[in-house]
Amino acid sequence: MTTLFDPLAAGRIALTNRIVMAPMTRSRALPDGSPSPLHPTYYAQRAGAGLIVSEGIWPVPTGKGYLGTPGLYTEAHVAGWKAVTDAVHAAGGRIVAQIMHSGRIGDPSFLPDGEIPVAPSAVRPKGRSYTLAGMRDHVTPRALDAAEIPGVIAGYAQATQRALDAGFDGVELHAASGYLPMQFLSSGTNLRTDAWGGSATARARFIVETLDAMAGVAGPDRVGIKLSPEMAFNDISDADPVDTYGTLVSAIGAKGLAYLHVALFGSPTDWHALLRPRFRGAYLAGGGLTQASATALLAEGRADAAVFGAPFIANPDLPTRFARGVALATPDSSTYYAGGEKGYIDYPMAA
Ligand SMILES: Cc1cc2nc3c(=O)[nH]c(=O)nc-3n(C[C@H](O)[C@H](O)[C@H](O)COP(=O)(O)O)c2cc1C
Repeated sequence: MTTLFDPLAAGRIALTNRIVMAPMTRSRALPDGSPSPLHPTYYAQRAGAGLIVSEGIWPVPTGKGYLGTPGLYTEAHVAGWKAVTDAVHAAGGRIVAQIMHSGRIGDPSFLPDGEIPVAPSAVRPKGRSYTLAGMRDHVTPRALDAAEIPGVIAGYAQATQRALDAGFDGVELHAASGYLPMQFLSSGTNLRTDAWGGSATARARFIVETLDAMAGVAGPDRVGIKLSPEMAFNDISDADPVDTYGTLVSAIGAKGLAYLHVALFGSPTDWHALLRPRFRGAYLAGGGLTQASATALLAEGRADAAVFGAPFIANPDLPTRFARGVALATPDSSTYYAGGEKGYIDYPMAA
C-alpha cells in the first residue's frame, strides 16, 4: 500500500516522500521583486517536503498581481533565487518555481508606468487589491490583442530558462485561482471569438501552448501544472467545468509532464476520479487535506502525492511531525502576507 513516506518520481524530479509543500505567496520580496535575505532560510526550513513548490513568481513585470511578490525576470532575481535553491538543496530538498501571471487580478500601481492589467477579455473582476494607497477596486482589464499573446507565452518560456539558471529543479504553471491561464480557460472571463476563445479546446489553447513553450526549455518532465476546477476565487466562473477541464487535461495528458496538481475547495464533483485517468504523470491532490485524508487518498490509489499549504507555514518539519505523530501547530493568518521574520522563519521544529 502506498504511503506518504514512499518515494515518487515526478518526471525527472525524484521526491523522497509524497508530502508536497503547496505554493504560497508570503509577500516578503524586496521592492524590485528579488527574494529577500529571509527567503533561503524559510524554504530550507521546509526542505523535508518531498517537493517544495515556490510562492507564485511573476514571469514579466506586467504579470505582478500583489505587493511584495517576487519575479524571475532580471539578473538580480536569478541571483536571489539561486541563494534559495542552494539552501534547499544543501538541506536535502527539491524545489520548483511556480510561474504566476496574474492577468486581470492586480492594480495598475503594481505595473510599469501604471499600465492597465491584461486579460483575455475586458471583464472587470469583483474584488479589491491591497495597494500602497490602501484598498482599491480592481479595474477593467485590457483585452490582449491576438498578436500580443505569443509574446506573453514567450515570457513564460523566458522565466523557465531563468528558473533553470537559478537552480530550480523544475517549473510549475500556475493555472489555478483565477489568474491569467485560468482566465483564458474559463467561459466567464474568456469572451473571445478568435482562435483563443469559444470552445473548450480554444479556451484551453493558452495553457496548452504555454506548457509547450515551458517544456521546450526545461523538457516536459520538469514541468508541472496546478489547476483548481470550480474554484470561485477571484470572481472566476465557467459554464461547464466538466467539459472544460476534461478537454484541457485530455489535451495535456500525454505530453510527458512531470505532474498535475489538482487543488479542490469544497466542490461536490469527484475531480480526482474524472481527471486522473486522463493524465500520464504524477497526480498530486491538494486542498484542505489532513494526514488522515491524505493517507487515505494514496492508499485508495486516488493520487500519487498529497499537497499541504497552511500546515507547512507553522510546521516547517511537517513530514517529521506526521511520521512521529506530533501535534500540529496552528499558523497565524495575520502574518501570512506581512510580518517580516515573524510568522515566517520563527516557527520552531518539533523537538
Ligand atoms: C498564505 C497562502 C498563500 C497562497 N499562495 C498561493 C500561490 O502563490 N499560488 C498558488 O497556486 N496557491 C496559493 N495558495 C493556495 C495553496 O497553494 C493551496 O492550494 C491551498 O492553501 C489549499 O491547501 P491547504 O488547505 O493545505 O492550505 C496560497 C495559500 C495560502 C494559505
